[in-house]
Amino acid sequence: MKSKLFANLGVEANGIKADIRNTTSHFSTSSRRSFLRLSGLGVVGFGLFHAGCADRGGSTDGADELIQGFETEAEVEKTETWVPISDRKVRVGIVGYGVCRFGAEFGFQNHPNVEVVAVSDLFPDRCAKLAEVCGVAKTYPSLEELVKDDNIEAVFVATDAPSHGKHCLEVLKHGKHVAVAVPAVFGSLEEADQLMEVVKSSGLKYMMFETSMFRSNLYAMRQLYRTGDLGEIVYSEGEYYHYMSEPIDSYQGWRIGLPPQFYPTHSNAYHIGVTGGSFTEVSCLGMKSAIKDFQPSANNYKNPFATEIAMFRTSEGAMSRMAVSWDTPGDHGERGRVRGQKGSFYEKYEGLSKNLPDLSRPGLPEGVPAGGHGGSHGLLTDEFITSIIQDRTPLVNLAMALNMSVSGIVAHQSALKDGELLKIPQYSF
Ligand SMILES: NC(=O)c1ccc[n+]([C@@H]2O[C@H](COP(=O)([O-])OP(=O)(O)OC[C@H]3O[C@@H](n4cnc5c(N)ncnc54)[C@H](O)[C@@H]3O)[C@@H](O)[C@H]2O)c1
Repeated sequence: MKSKLFANLGVEANGIKADIRNTTSHFSTSSRRSFLRLSGLGVVGFGLFHAGCADRGGSTDGADELIQGFETEAEVEKTETWVPISDRKVRVGIVGYGVCRFGAEFGFQNHPNVEVVAVSDLFPDRCAKLAEVCGVAKTYPSLEELVKDDNIEAVFVATDAPSHGKHCLEVLKHGKHVAVAVPAVFGSLEEADQLMEVVKSSGLKYMMFETSMFRSNLYAMRQLYRTGDLGEIVYSEGEYYHYMSEPIDSYQGWRIGLPPQFYPTHSNAYHIGVTGGSFTEVSCLGMKSAIKDFQPSANNYKNPFATEIAMFRTSEGAMSRMAVSWDTPGDHGERGRVRGQKGSFYEKYEGLSKNLPDLSRPGLPEGVPAGGHGGSHGLLTDEFITSIIQDRTPLVNLAMALNMSVSGIVAHQSALKDGELLKIPQYSF
């Protein structure tokens, strides 16, 4: 474990300045930013966070190996100082403490505007552990029971991916706001329309916790797109490479033979999360995998592909290549890049603009860890909770979440048809 962790200790002094809240206003009206602006030097606490690992912070697979993406990077970054906008506490329920222990990974239990009222997991031992980690006494045997608690205003759904659609519908139907781990829907489009209907009619908040959205590179791309320094995006690329000779453990084995484009949001965010647009058509190719779980008869999806490469047409008329791969060892990660009419962003901006806007990310409340996946966890929680307190649309709202997720489901269909060009349903408010 030690060697792997240190391999990730590349210190990045990116020296780019952030202006996060404006990003949110890209999709909403008012934000903490217009309230007050202060800046300070924040160090994302590597040592601190990993101390938690010893107490089961930082998720590992069955063999206690750190799962890719949960490393916390030591990053010296100029961030805003977090400024409270209210002393209100949103009463939250948390569901799901599986192999990634995701329910406790986002710092809800540490956020000054949150009271974790109750938690749940189907496995009593996991449920008890989640309660302990979150410091709460109240537990429920299932999400279906937890949502009946009238004292809960919002629920974080960190359950198995195939259940996200139905679990979010259950939460919304009980009049509660919902935040959910990726993807928004899995394998079927029905739940997508049902979710749109319930969110439109109820006005409740829905946010998908796409970790790529607050990685410093994607955050900067979104800022630069908003300020026009990239111009219209002509071409984008995103990828999620995660080699698994054996699938990571999962509830009811949902990860066994998982169609790569059923898990498309980490990569798709590198276009849709930058422009706020969508994908309209796709031609996707897959390659039959040598790994045993990807023999069609060996998995519930009858899926032969462990690598799928999708070529999308975007709603802006641009081209976008999105790759997801489970069977190619070596270089790995969740990342992307964009090329626009005025500039490009790989790991930095290059282009026609001379005066760039402030690109570093916002700060976090004291005690809320930045977390894994490029220090994105705490920022996602703060964005969701702030959107409830400010009664505005969260950054990754349902339309964006579905445009990121459904496009992958259609891409897998195209791969099964050897790259046939297929139209993609569009979601908007
Ligand atoms: N970077 C990222 O965004 C990222 C990284 C890792 C995992 N994830 C997502 O996080 C989620 C959780 O991942 P995991 O590996 O822990 O999953 P998992 O399959 O190991 O665990 C899911 C947990 O949900 C619980 N659950 C299912 N239905 C329930 C119900 N009705 N009531 C209460 N509990 C219920 C199960 O008991 C189980 O413990 C997945 O959807 C995965 O896609 C996202």
